[in-house]
Amino acid sequence: MPATAKPHDFVVVANRLPVDISYHADGTISAQPSPGGLVAALQPVLEQRQGGWVGWPGTVGETPAPMSTEGGIQLHPVELSQADFEEFYEGFSNATLWPLYHDVIMRPRYHRPWWQAYERVNARFAQRTAEVAAPNAVVWVQDYQLQLVPGMLKAMRPDLKIGLFLHIPFPPPSLFLQLPWREQILEGMLGADVLGFQLPSCAKNFQALAPQAADRIHAFPISIDTAAFQQSTDIQRTRARFGNPDTLLLGVDRLDYTKGILQRLEAFEELLEQGLIDAERTVFVQVATPSRERLEHYRLTRSKVEEAVGRINGRFGSIGHSVVRYHHQSLKRAELIELYQAADVMVVTPFKDGMNLVAKEYVASHSDGRGALVLSEFAGAAQELRTSYLCNPHDIDSIKAQMLAAINDQGSAEAQQRMEAMYQQVMHCDVERWAKNFLEELLSTP
Ligand code: ADP
Ligand code: G6P
Repeated sequence: MPATAKPHDFVVVANRLPVDISYHADGTISAQPSPGGLVAALQPVLEQRQGGWVGWPGTVGETPAPMSTEGGIQLHPVELSQADFEEFYEGFSNATLWPLYHDVIMRPRYHRPWWQAYERVNARFAQRTAEVAAPNAVVWVQDYQLQLVPGMLKAMRPDLKIGLFLHIPFPPPSLFLQLPWREQILEGMLGADVLGFQLPSCAKNFQALAPQAADRIHAFPISIDTAAFQQSTDIQRTRARFGNPDTLLLGVDRLDYTKGILQRLEAFEELLEQGLIDAERTVFVQVATPSRERLEHYRLTRSKVEEAVGRINGRFGSIGHSVVRYHHQSLKRAELIELYQAADVMVVTPFKDGMNLVAKEYVASHSDGRGALVLSEFAGAAQELRTSYLCNPHDIDSIKAQMLAAINDQGSAEAQQRMEAMYQQVMHCDVERWAKNFLEELLSTP
C-alpha cells in the first residue's frame, strides 16, 4: 500500500476492478467500465460506503499504481502475468469453474497446472487484501474466481470479518463433486463468516456439502441501482433509428454461451418463416458485449450467432431493412437505457444464469408500464419476476410461444399489469437493499 494511503475499514475483493485499463502502443492509457453484472452491482454499493477495492485492472504484465475513482473508491490493482491470465483467468476460472457451475452446459476442463495458478493468484489477492485492510475491517470477497481467498485471509488476519458472495449459480453436489480440487475449494470458501448465494436453491446445494456451516449460509438475490435507470429518453427518436417498426425486440448480453443468444435468434427465425410475425414491421436488436474472446466455446458461439444474423437478414430482410440489427460492442449506460425504454419486448433466454441483471434493468427502465419481458426459467431473476413471459430456453417452441404472446399482448391491460408488478418488485428490492442485508448479516456474526 502506498505510504500516503490509509488502511480501509471496508474492502471489496473481486477479480475485476470497476475499470478496465488498456495500455496503447503510443504510450497512452485508457480506462473503460469493466464488463458484467458484478461490477455494475457493486460500484454504487462501494461509492455509497467508500472504502477500498482490490482487483485486477484487466492488463497483463503492466499494472497501474493504486488510484481512486471519481466516485471516491480507492483501487488496489493486483497484477496478472501472461501465464496467470491464461491459466488462472481463462483456464481455471472460465474453462473449469464457469462451465461446471453453469450445470456443465459445456464440458469443464480439469487441468492440474490451472489449479496451481488458481492457488497462486488467490494467494496474491489474499496478501494484497491483508495489506490494505485496517484492524477488524469488513472484507467482502466476490465470486468464483476467488473462492480460496476467504480461507487464506482468515489464516493471515483472524481479526477480519470476511464475507463471500457467489454471483453465479452453485451447482448440485452431483456436479460439484466432479471437481478434483473440491475439498480445497470448500475449505477456502468456509473461511468466510457469511457465505452468500443468489438463490435458496444454490444455498441448499452448498449446505448439502457443508452441513456444519448451515448458520453461515444464506441467499441474497442481487439487484441493480434502480435510480440509474429512471431518466426518461426520447423513445420516438430511438424507434425512428430502426425505421419505426410495429415491434422492437431487444437482447442485451455478454457474448457468452450460457446466454442462449443463438436459440432466441433461431426462435425468431422460425416465427418469421411461419409468417407469424411480419419481417417488414419488426426489428430485433441484439447487442452483445465481447467477452473471453480467446476461449474456444466463446469463439464458436460468436461465429454461430453471427452466421444466424447473416442468414436471417439474408432470408427475411429487404434492401434498406435489416430485420436483425446486431452489434458486437459494449454500449454506454445512456445508450442502453434508450434501447430498454424503446423496446416492446426484451428477450432474456439464458440456459443458466446466477441472476441476470439485464432483465431487472429493463424492468426498472419502464416506470411507464410499457413493454414485456420474455425470461428464461433458468435465470435467477425468474424467481422474482414472476409476471414475465417465462420460457424454457432448451425448448424452441417455448421461446417462440412466449415471444409471440409478448408481441401479441402489446398495449393490453394485462401486459401493463405484468410490467407494473415487476417494476414494483425491482424498485423495492434494489442493490442497496441487497448490500445492506448481506452486511448486516456479516456484522451480526460473533
Ligand atoms: P453477466 O454478469 O453474466 O454479464 P448480467 O445480466 O447479470 O450478466 O449483467 C450484465 C451487465 O452488463 C448489466 O449491467 C448490463 O447492463 C451490462 N451489459 C450487458 N451487455 C452490454 C453491452 N453490450 N453494453 C454495455 N453494457 C452491457
Ligand atoms: C459475470 C461474473 C463476473 C465477471 C463478469 C464479466 O458477471 O459473475 O465475476 O466479472 O461476468 O466477465 P469477465 O470474465 O470479463 O470478468
